[in-house]
Amino acid sequence: RRGAVVDFGFSEEQLMLQDVARRIAREKILPSAEHHDQTGEFPLDNIRTLGENGLMGIEVPAEYGGAGMDPVAYVLAMVEIAAADAAHSTIVSVNNSLFCNGILTFGTEAQKQKYVRAIAEGREIGAFALTEPQSGSDATAMRCRATKQADGTFVVNGKKSWITSGPVAKYIVLFAMTEPDKGARGITAFMIDTDRAGFHRGKTEPKLGIRASATCEIEFADYVVQPDEVLGDEGHGFKIAMGVLDAGRIGIASQAIGIARAAYEATLAYVKERKAFGQPIGAFQMTQAKIADMKCKLDAALLLTLRAAWLKGQGKRFTTEASVAKLTASEAAMWISHQALQIHGGMGYSKEMPIERYFRDAKITEIYEGTSEIQRLVIARGETGLR
Ligand code: CAA
Ligand code: FAD
Repeated sequence: RRGAVVDFGFSEEQLMLQDVARRIAREKILPSAEHHDQTGEFPLDNIRTLGENGLMGIEVPAEYGGAGMDPVAYVLAMVEIAAADAAHSTIVSVNNSLFCNGILTFGTEAQKQKYVRAIAEGREIGAFALTEPQSGSDATAMRCRATKQADGTFVVNGKKSWITSGPVAKYIVLFAMTEPDKGARGITAFMIDTDRAGFHRGKTEPKLGIRASATCEIEFADYVVQPDEVLGDEGHGFKIAMGVLDAGRIGIASQAIGIARAAYEATLAYVKERKAFGQPIGAFQMTQAKIADMKCKLDAALLLTLRAAWLKGQGKRFTTEASVAKLTASEAAMWISHQALQIHGGMGYSKEMPIERYFRDAKITEIYEGTSEIQRLVIARGETGLR
C-alpha cells in the first residue's frame, strides 16, 4: 500500500523506515498482540527490537543513538506499529515524542548525551509526568512541588498519575511547581532517575485497552534534583510541556490511524466473505455507505496528520494542525472501530477476532495527550483568538 493515499513524495529513507516498522510489526508484534492484550504483560523484548532498528528514537540524530529521520517518517512508522498493536505504539510514542523530543529541543548537550541514547536505542524506557490526581486537562493546577534549596538543588514532593511506562521507566521528564504564585509561569521541568531515593511507584492500573502499555501513579518524597537536572529554564516548564505535547499529538494521531486502518482492512475482507440473504454483506447499500464513510475518515485523518508532521519538519508552528490531526484521527478511530464491530456482527464482539480489541484500544486516543474537548479548545482559541 505504498503511497496509497496520495503521493507526498516520500523519500527512499522514509519508505525504508516504514518498511522496517511494517516488517517488525507483522513478524514480531502482531503474533503476540493478543497475548499482550490478554495478559497485560509489558512487551520488553519487542521494544528492544524496535530500539535496535531505530524506532524508539526516530527523529533522534544518529550521534545520540537514533534513526535521524523526520516527523513524516515518524508518522509512517507509528501507523505500521499501531496497526499491529496499539499498546506497543503508546510506548513508542511516549519514548519518541514526549521523552526524546523534549530533551532534544530543550536539553543541554550533557543532558542529550546522558538521557537520550539509552532510550533511543530501546535499552531503557522513558516517561513524561504532567498529570496529577486532581489535574489532567487543567494541567497548571498541579500540586507537585519542587522547592529550591540554598545550594541550587530542588526537593520534590507530590504525586503524578496515569504515567505511561511509569512502572518500567528509567528516566522521567517531570513537571513540578517551583513558584506557585506564578501559575503556569511557576512550573519547571526536571529529569528524574527512578533508581534514586525518594521515587516511588504505585500499582499498575488495570485498563480497558492498550493493556500492555503499563501505567501507574508515581510519588516523590523528598526526592533531590541536582541543578544540572533542570530541563530548560526555571519557570518555562509549562511551555516545554505544551510544546512537547504539540509533537506528541502527531504521534497519537498516527496511533489512531493505525488502529483505524487495521479495523478498516479487516472489514473490507469480511464484507466480501460473509454472506446474508444470498449475497456478500458488502453488497448491501447500508454496508457500502459505512465503507465509504470509513474510507473518507481514514484518508482525512492520514492527510491531516501528514500535514502536521510536514509543518513540524519545516520548523513551522504546528499547534493547531497537530490538534486538528489528533482530534480528527482519534474520532475517526473510534467511529471506524465501532462500525467495524457492527459490520462483523457477533464475530466483532468475540475475542476470536481482533475487532473488539481495536474498539477498546481506539477509545484512549480521545482521552490522553489532551481530550477531544481540549483539542477543540486549542483549535478554537487559535482560530478566534478568544478564550
Ligand atoms: N506551545 C508553547 N507554549 C504554549 C502552548 C504551546 N502549544 N500552549 C500554551 N502555551 C503557553 C501560553 O502561551 C502561555 O504562556 P504565557 O504565560 O507566557 O502567556 C502558557 O503556556 C499558558 O497557556 P494557557 O493560558 O493557554 O494555559 P491554560 O491553563 O488555559 O491551558 C490547555 C491550556 C491547552 C488546556 C492545556 O492545559 C492542555 O493542553 N491541557 C491538556 C493536558 C494534556 O494534554 N495532558 C497530556 C498529558 S501526557 C499524556 O497524556 C501522555 C500519554 O497519554 C501517552
Ligand atoms: P479531566 O481533566 O478531569 O476531564 C474530565 C472531562 O471533563 C473530560 O471529558 C474533559 O474533556 C472535560 N473537560 C475538562 N476541561 C474542560 C474544558 N475546559 N472544556 C470542556 N470540557 C472539559 N498523563 C501524563 O502526564 N503522562 C502520561 O504518560 C499519561 N499517560 C496516560 C495513559 C492513560 C492510559 C491514561 C488514561 C491517561 C494518561 N495520562 C497521562 C493522563 C491524560 O493525559 C489525562 O487523563 C487527560 O489529559 C484527561 O485528564 P483527566 O483524566 O484528569 O480528565
